[in-house]
Amino acid sequence: MSARRPIVAGNWKMNGLRAAARVLAADVELASGGMPTVDLVICPPAVHITEVEEQVRAAAATEGRAPRVAIGGQNAWDKPTGAFTGEVSPQMLADVGCRYVILGHSERRTLCSETDAVVNAKVNAALAAGLTPIVCVGETLAERESGRTDDVVAGQVRGSLAGLGAAEIARLVIAYEPVWAIGTGRVATPAQAQAVHALIRGLLGSLAGADTAAGVRIQYGGSVKPDNAAELAAQPDIDGALVGGASLDAPGFLAIARAFAG
Ligand code: PGA
Repeated sequence: MSARRPIVAGNWKMNGLRAAARVLAADVELASGGMPTVDLVICPPAVHITEVEEQVRAAAATEGRAPRVAIGGQNAWDKPTGAFTGEVSPQMLADVGCRYVILGHSERRTLCSETDAVVNAKVNAALAAGLTPIVCVGETLAERESGRTDDVVAGQVRGSLAGLGAAEIARLVIAYEPVWAIGTGRVATPAQAQAVHALIRGLLGSLAGADTAAGVRIQYGGSVKPDNAAELAAQPDIDGALVGGASLDAPGFLAIARAFAG
């Protein structure tokens, strides 16, 4: 574990109706005590964000304290406002209480054809709105098996962060999510994950300087569960997790967070 403050985020994806979202958000906030050393984030479907944010605040208020759980969007458009039917701007996310936004998730890269250039525009827009982008990168199984992991990930990092200065890179969270590990139950080994995290940090160093790179948090994502979180957390360049399926269960999500809390 490094000196960087770990960050564990739950990506709920397109799961949960209102009632379930309310309960899950309140449960996570209420169980978040005793973990002052880790940043917790939940990323609900956009239509639930307002309600989830209210639930988190209300749950914290029952204990007479401020919320520990921050809210994030799962995606945003690259403009603040305008004729973009069906889209949500980063300003809108910030306005309803989000502090984070996941950008470039592999599901969006694949299903919605988001290129590195698209992700780059969204990262810039999110930063301009005051949000912390969680920028996702990761190789497919075919790319790994043909020995192209490093090139693919490096290309995604360079493309997604193109044109950003050190001060902007310092504001990012990066999530390394091998596509073959997402939702498959097949987690990267700690050594596989650490190797790519170290590669990403080295690349950030060349883009923004070693000091900045040393402060950027790099999450691992892909079938993180309570029973594999500790060995991932023990790796020097793994600073947290982006959790999909396991984040839909409050005790499981909190168990993962505890593994990173040290
Ligand atoms: P998973 O998803 O934990 O269900 O594998 C991770 C993600 O897609 O962020």
